[in-house]
Amino acid sequence: MKILDFDSQVFLAPMAGITDKPLRNLVHSFGGGNIVSEMVAINALERKNPKTCRIADVRDEPYPVVVQLVGGNTELFADSARLAEELGAYSIDINMGCPVKKIVNNNSGSALTKDLPLASKIIKSVVDATPLKVSVKFRLGWDHEHINVVDFAKMCEDSGASYITVHGRTRSDFYSGTANWDLIADVKSAVKIPVVGNGDIVDGISAKKMIDYTGVDAVMVGRATLGAPWLVAQIDNYLKTGVETPVIDIEKIKDILLLHIKGLREYYGDRTALALSRKYVCWYCKGLHDAKRFREQYVRTVDFDTAFAVINEYFSSLGE
Ligand SMILES: Cc1cc2nc3c(=O)[nH]c(=O)nc-3n(C[C@H](O)[C@H](O)[C@H](O)COP(=O)(O)O)c2cc1C
Repeated sequence: MKILDFDSQVFLAPMAGITDKPLRNLVHSFGGGNIVSEMVAINALERKNPKTCRIADVRDEPYPVVVQLVGGNTELFADSARLAEELGAYSIDINMGCPVKKIVNNNSGSALTKDLPLASKIIKSVVDATPLKVSVKFRLGWDHEHINVVDFAKMCEDSGASYITVHGRTRSDFYSGTANWDLIADVKSAVKIPVVGNGDIVDGISAKKMIDYTGVDAVMVGRATLGAPWLVAQIDNYLKTGVETPVIDIEKIKDILLLHIKGLREYYGDRTALALSRKYVCWYCKGLHDAKRFREQYVRTVDFDTAFAVINEYFSSLGE
């Protein structure tokens, strides 16, 4: 079943501060996959905060981007959905799963799993405000004593959501423990709208396992893509062909890292790009030989000339 208009059962997970335009471009350059933005705060969007508007602006991206909104106010949600549409959103996803304190204290993110009437009002207001498809991403419930994911999923369906994404953890789990795929399967059998399963997918095999185990229509992959922007396309390919893609070789990893840095510099300028590149460098070299030394050298660099020298020296040493 196609969830959006394109033929892929894989979604790149929204990740704040990570799935920005440079990363989305890079992920898309490898091929298949549905792409979701970072979350966009509706109160900042409504105030036309320039930084937030820039995050929400996907008009120049040559592929469809699901723009995710987060907040807790029904009217602001409707206005923000219209703004996101003007800024090129292909469809709107509503974040009802973020566990972070400053978000839930604002009656937003996972806090909405405790307030079904408000969550329903928000979904309906967004559905009424825009012709775009509207989806919802949420967790199993607030904590293990309050698991309400099946009721929540049915509420989303009744409120007009086109599809839902279920992350198999509660708010109190944050990212710890193992995602509960049994409850994702319960959701899948309880609703008719498509369900995207999320939590602990790391490759094509685990993606297929989740689909077979839960019956979900698609999977969403987050942390495993950190330092591996090719993974979404690899999983997509595996689900379509059953063929595992060979491991990316070291020289190629270096080229992709450099391409990523190029995108960061173009989008953010050198100062911010250098700071941001530090976390990516750590992820790209995870598991590689002598990675600790490389990371330590890289985080001390103060300009891109030195940064590139450190990258070149490290990757040449791997080839020796
Ligand atoms: C650094 C980070 C930022 C995240 N930001 C968002 C976000 O903006 N919106 C959202 O719905 N989920 C966010 N998530 C949750 C992921 O989308 C995903 O649900 C979670 O990581 C579980 O999937 P995984 O096991 O494939 O990583 C974030 C996760 C991480 C690690």
